[in-house]
Amino acid sequence: MTLFAISGQDIAKGWVNMKQKKPWGGRFAQQTAASVESFTESVSFDWRLYQYDIEGSIAHATMLAKCKLITEREKDAIVKGLQEILAEIDAGKFKFRESLEDVHMNIESALIDRIGEAGKKLHTARSRNDQVALDLRLWMRDQAHTTIRLLTALQKALVIKGKTFFGLIMPGFTHLQHAQPVLLSHYLLAYVEMLERDATRLRDCFNRLNKSPLGACALAGTTLPTDPAFTAKLLGFEGVCENSMDAVSDRDFCIEFTFCLSMIAMHLSRLCEEWIIWCNDEVKFIEISDAYCTGSSIMPQKKNPDVLELIRGKCGRVYGHLTALLTLLKGLPLSYNRDMQEDKIALFDATDTVQASVSILAELVAHTNFNREQMTAACEKGFIDATALAEYLVKKGVPFRMAHEIVGKIVRECIRVHCKLTDLQLEGFQAFSSAIEKDVYKVLGVENCIRNYRSYGSTAPAFVKKRLAYWEKKMIIAKGK
Ligand code: ARG
Repeated sequence: MTLFAISGQDIAKGWVNMKQKKPWGGRFAQQTAASVESFTESVSFDWRLYQYDIEGSIAHATMLAKCKLITEREKDAIVKGLQEILAEIDAGKFKFRESLEDVHMNIESALIDRIGEAGKKLHTARSRNDQVALDLRLWMRDQAHTTIRLLTALQKALVIKGKTFFGLIMPGFTHLQHAQPVLLSHYLLAYVEMLERDATRLRDCFNRLNKSPLGACALAGTTLPTDPAFTAKLLGFEGVCENSMDAVSDRDFCIEFTFCLSMIAMHLSRLCEEWIIWCNDEVKFIEISDAYCTGSSIMPQKKNPDVLELIRGKCGRVYGHLTALLTLLKGLPLSYNRDMQEDKIALFDATDTVQASVSILAELVAHTNFNREQMTAACEKGFIDATALAEYLVKKGVPFRMAHEIVGKIVRECIRVHCKLTDLQLEGFQAFSSAIEKDVYKVLGVENCIRNYRSYGSTAPAFVKKRLAYWEKKMIIAKGK
């Protein structure tokens, strides 16, 4: 069954549904039912592994020749045939056939059609079980790199904004209530840190999956004199999977990768949620350029943050794929089971979704302006310098719990008389604590607060500036790579 509608790309790649002799047909007296063919096929979605399938097959043939299981001439014919098939698929001229189930059998059949007898030797000491595990790992190595590159571009967009708006103060929130003043740059760099961990998580995942399963064959290995370490080396793997049954039956690397993607999606979703709030008429902290917003079909005045909403929404879809993969594997006895064919649907969509989200968000960040007036005005609300006042009292020797109590009472008084902390006269403060002196005005107000932060990792301008410089340097290095 074709689970996804066949895309234009599939059609361009020459999707056809024709009866074809099965590579596994020897044991069967009857033709496969058409309904079974269409229910069991995976080529409608696994065709996109073709480049990796061919890369793996070329390495496998090279190893077979080295181990004298095929001749050099046969290897050369296989390599040439596979390269021609690759060019044909790249050009959209290859005809994928549903009756040949998957990308692996489509390519193998095409090779046999093209070069004859030598092609029939390619599958020596190999099964589709280790072949598909290999293709997936090769594909995922590239996807990990692509995703990291996209994350870097998003980080860069955030750092650039952080530099442009350095010095702009906004209210930091807890419980979505005004809490303490922070630099906008500090807020933006919080996401840069998260995205950096996301990238390192992908690198960890890469390192764990970077082992070759080729050589495991169906599940038990082979009686033929092969050299799996050689293929692993040709394909740039760090080594060979140590256990053939594990090699063909686990998909933990797919789950881990999808988890890494889910974490990215979660981070993006948080930023999107915030910015959706930030561009509404009450808050107006940001203005996204028209090119990155959409309108309403009925309300002419509307300018909606649909891109942000869709990124937030797509996060649920990515989590869904993670859950699907975990559930797919949970009851599977060792080793390979056909259930595992479903892994690709989840994995491909999660990858496409997250990469598209990261990529568009980087563009949107670059096309967003921060509203200085609104942010500055918002800092006047919510007594966000109250904690600084409590810490002022601590510096005067008042125990923190008492200081907290005193400032709480001062705030209550300000609410009653409708004023800010900075509006109170010294006598007003001293009615609550004799420890308050006239230097109190050096700690009140958001500018003073920001200037007085000093702990490591805080929003103190000197720290933020240093961190901005750190990221900027890192981005330039990343670009140079
Ligand atoms: N298309 C299958 C998959 O994606 C690989 C084929 C293995 N099939 C088999 N009957 N052993 O998992």
